[in-house]
Amino acid sequence: MRLDEYFLTELKSRNPIEETVNRYVSVKRAGRNPKALCPFHNEKTPSFTLYPENGSFYCFGCGVGGDVISFTMRMENLDYMEAVRLLAERSGMTMPEVGVDDSQTKLRRRIYEINRESARFFHSYLMSPQGKVGYEYMKGRQITDATIRRFGLGYAPDSWDKLTNHLRSKGYHNDELLAAGVASAAREGNRVFDRFRNRMVFPLIDLRGNVIAFSCRKIDPEDKGGKYVNTSDTPVYKKSHNIFALNLAKKSGENRLILCEGSMDVVMLHQAGFHNAVAAWGTALTAEQARLLHNYTQEIILTLDADEAGQKATDRAIKLLSDEGLDVKVVQIPNGKDPDEFIKSHGKDGAVRFRALLDGAGSDTEYRLYKATRHQNHNTNEGRTAALQSAAAVLGTLTSPIEREVYAGKLAEQYHVSKDAILAEAKRTYDKQQKQRREQQERQITAKPNTDPVNPQRPANTRAANAEEGLIGVLLRNPDFIAAVRKELAPEEFVTDFNRKIYEVLVQRQQEGRGIDVTLFGGEFTPEELSRIVHIQVRGSERANTMDECRACISIIKEEKQKISPADSEQMTDEELRRYMQTLREQKTRGTNQ
Ligand code: UTP
Ligand code: MN
Repeated sequence: MRLDEYFLTELKSRNPIEETVNRYVSVKRAGRNPKALCPFHNEKTPSFTLYPENGSFYCFGCGVGGDVISFTMRMENLDYMEAVRLLAERSGMTMPEVGVDDSQTKLRRRIYEINRESARFFHSYLMSPQGKVGYEYMKGRQITDATIRRFGLGYAPDSWDKLTNHLRSKGYHNDELLAAGVASAAREGNRVFDRFRNRMVFPLIDLRGNVIAFSCRKIDPEDKGGKYVNTSDTPVYKKSHNIFALNLAKKSGENRLILCEGSMDVVMLHQAGFHNAVAAWGTALTAEQARLLHNYTQEIILTLDADEAGQKATDRAIKLLSDEGLDVKVVQIPNGKDPDEFIKSHGKDGAVRFRALLDGAGSDTEYRLYKATRHQNHNTNEGRTAALQSAAAVLGTLTSPIEREVYAGKLAEQYHVSKDAILAEAKRTYDKQQKQRREQQERQITAKPNTDPVNPQRPANTRAANAEEGLIGVLLRNPDFIAAVRKELAPEEFVTDFNRKIYEVLVQRQQEGRGIDVTLFGGEFTPEELSRIVHIQVRGSERANTMDECRACISIIKEEKQKISPADSEQMTDEELRRYMQTLREQKTRGTNQ
């Protein structure tokens, strides 16, 4: 469906870019253009720049740019229509209900409804007499009624069709149930059956309050299925992009988050008063999840399991989280327990004891030093030397010289060795890594041909593309030039297709008397394309706002076009032929390159 442009203009003015961005990252006013730390990549000095005068943003660090709608799409992981709807709701506007949603948006909406209805069903079932097995299992694990309500926990009946029948009675079709992931397809016929059976249900609720997935634990030890069965990726849920209980932890008012491995740990921690606990289902944390966490906190306390798999996961998580720029601390729970078991094993004192663990949590570096040295025998010289060498290697991976100093000092005291010797040893690792990194970068540069996914013709035609972009940049800022430029340059004369498409949109909008504004183009370009357009617009400020500037670009575009497809001379009029020869002569006298 096409949105009315008055509506879009109003939407944009009611959702100023500065205010909208400030909901997620804090915007600082410095000079003319407000800036913030980019929410789309990790940085320490702000290069995420806002342009309130035209409602756009551009990050000079990672190249992401756009308007308030594409910003919201990226931040909230929404499609175009959903982002518009969210902004409309926020600013008290009614969505124009012209036409129907496109099918993907409609399916996503149906899935949200199915998930909500399923969560309700599981929860009521748990609280009904029929759900006694599930309820007793939870009581056996000391989960209170208040916790059940807080998390909306449920019980999936031991049945092949109770949920699917219920959902069908509400008007949902089999293919929608399959798409939502609450049903599986029977091998024969087009029947479907309940995917989650005889299990305790943890619903995952996103930051806008939508139920997007379920994690279901078996309650019967004889059950031959996996311990947990989780929703696979669906049109509304990407496993690698979401964090369980972040919706609750966000409201905890704490400035750090506790990251655990399992939902059960999160539930028990909340029950014990730690309302900032969250989990990434499964063990392998992803960079997207790290970024999501970073949107809400600067400090993470890791409490992953002490078993072999848990330790591996901890190492991986430390790397991902610190690469993301988060401060990481690690809690080591004694005796290989997880937080749930630890708290329960201390009865009434569970919460106090866990708080003590948190307070004693070491930094990620301490944790890595401990791991690097613990296997060595500190009573022999060989053991101590080996321990120190491993420890120095850990220091060598630290990018902050101050941090290296601090820990080298500690090690020096502990091992009675000079700090300089430790730092020298650390530097060897550091230099080796830098060298490897450089070599790897060089390999990447030489191995990969220059590619540009947004404008694939750009790398082979940089001179033309630069001129095209220069022209578009001036036009975006000076729409009153469009009519005159169009007389001198037809869209067919563009060299690269992507830039031609932008030019066509500009020309067409100008002819129809419609506004020239990236927000109005949103429906026609992807967020990646929009990033490029805003970049072109931002770079337009480097050029003069004059027709002469446009003409300079136009002549380069024409010149480059001729190089790749000199028109067939037989079909040229005499006049065209004369002009063509003239350009060739000009090129010769001026030299080929500018
Ligand atoms: P654990 O096996 O440590 O389970 O898996 P747990 O959280 O301690 O649960 P309880 O206490 O035994 O009931 C940790 C997490 O790994 C994921 C789940 O998210 C689980 O919470 N997992 C585990 C799966 O996704 N599938 C599995 O089969 C097992
Ligand atoms: Mn457990």
